[in-house]
Amino acid sequence: MSQPSTVESWVPQTPPVPSNEAERLQALERYQVLDTLAEEAFDDLTQLAAYICGTPIALISLVDEHRQWFKSKVGLDATETPRELAFCAHAICQPDQPLVVPNALDDERFASNPLVTSDPDIRFYAGTPLVTPDGHAIGTLCAIDRVPRNLSAEQIEALRSLGRQVISQLELRLQLQNLQKAQAQLVHSEKMSALGQLVGGVAHEINNPVTFIKGNLKYLERYTQELLQLLQAYQTHYPDPPPALQTLIEASDLAFLQADLQKLLQSTRNGGDRIQTIVQSLRNFSRLDETGLKTADIHGGLDSTLMVLDYRLKAVDEHKHPVTVLKNYGQLPLLNCYPGQLNQVFMNLISNAIDALESPSVRQKTLEIWTETVRDDRIAIHIRDNGPGIPAEIRPRIFDPFFTTKSMGQGNGLGLYVSHQIIVKQHGGKLSYHSETGQGTEFVIELPVSAACPREEGANTP
Ligand SMILES: Nc1ncnc2c1ncn2[C@@H]1O[C@H](COP(=O)(O)OP(=O)(O)OP(=O)(O)O)[C@@H](O)[C@H]1O
Ligand SMILES: [Mg+2]
Repeated sequence: MSQPSTVESWVPQTPPVPSNEAERLQALERYQVLDTLAEEAFDDLTQLAAYICGTPIALISLVDEHRQWFKSKVGLDATETPRELAFCAHAICQPDQPLVVPNALDDERFASNPLVTSDPDIRFYAGTPLVTPDGHAIGTLCAIDRVPRNLSAEQIEALRSLGRQVISQLELRLQLQNLQKAQAQLVHSEKMSALGQLVGGVAHEINNPVTFIKGNLKYLERYTQELLQLLQAYQTHYPDPPPALQTLIEASDLAFLQADLQKLLQSTRNGGDRIQTIVQSLRNFSRLDETGLKTADIHGGLDSTLMVLDYRLKAVDEHKHPVTVLKNYGQLPLLNCYPGQLNQVFMNLISNAIDALESPSVRQKTLEIWTETVRDDRIAIHIRDNGPGIPAEIRPRIFDPFFTTKSMGQGNGLGLYVSHQIIVKQHGGKLSYHSETGQGTEFVIELPVSAACPREEGANTP
């Protein structure tokens, strides 16, 4: 297309820079959208803009420091162009109204612009600024044609409202990203609190055998001293022991020493075994950060969790009443699951049950755990306490993040929220409960076994 002779000497005007440029760039940066992949929600809006304006080209253009980058485009191959050539860079300088250029050749700002004088041969341009809620024009939604034209007032109004939709989409996208970050943090802090409980439980469990092993060692040391003294006396007087040696033997009460030594050694061995079991449980349990699906035995996971919480079950209230644990495990297949995450759920639900059983109003404190296969394709794990129950008025909120009835430092209100995410989102299962005031509460975890693997040697314990 030839240019009119009157504009041949025009030079393209460098677009002005908005007065709030630094803040404007920050506003754009906040969306973290530059150089991201195409997204349907934006492409739909661009398509609609092209359709409504009747133009072959429509773009969502975001104006960066040195370029305009297209988040979405119809009818154009380029992904970005230098800012000094961008029509949109002019449009963002008037955030309150669209920039309409009916014929670029008649406009001294654009007549000699290479985007006008050569491909894509822009003649018509209409761009509505994309204005953030705090008033910064970060780019435009624009419609472009290769022939001069104009838009009706209705078309311009429609373009403006589509522009507002683009900003809404960007805001939604940002909120979603923030939510995802917040959720990751929630899950992390819940993991930390589960780990805290775990460390507390294990420290308590190990402390007991370590204390009596240490006590045993004191006696073992004394007995060994006495035996060594006797041995030394024998050696000194061998082969002719004096009568004084007999007195020494009697003073040592060899028979008692022999019997007690056996007991001490046995008890020390038991202590060692207990520590070993605890360490094994800890190894099984503390897989909170393992990623990927694993074949696992649900019952092993429940047992490890009970072991970790044993110190609380032994003395649950201020009068040190114990909790009776009744287990009834059904025949379950191995599950393909995230074992560390399931352990976290068991820990949350059993901890909640123990918290409920702390109530002095509960006499015979009982925790029942049973498992079963329900229909062919699901397993169910029931965790029931005979605590005071969940008050009816808080039931609608117990799965909300941060909802807790516990005092500061005792509860974060994340246990059920995270458990629900793990069971429902990660495993496609169901987490439900039934509670009766004064009777107790039963939580039921249902998990699909469709991905279950045949039982085999060496399977993991959750
Ligand atoms: N077995 C139960 N018996 C009675 N109330 C329960 C039981 N389980 C949960 N709740 C109620 O639901 C609330 C939310 O439970 P959730 O596990 O989400 O948080 P939390 O136990 O308060 O804190 P966190 O688990 O983060 O340490 C609890 O504060 C409690 O009031
Ligand atoms: Mg809890």
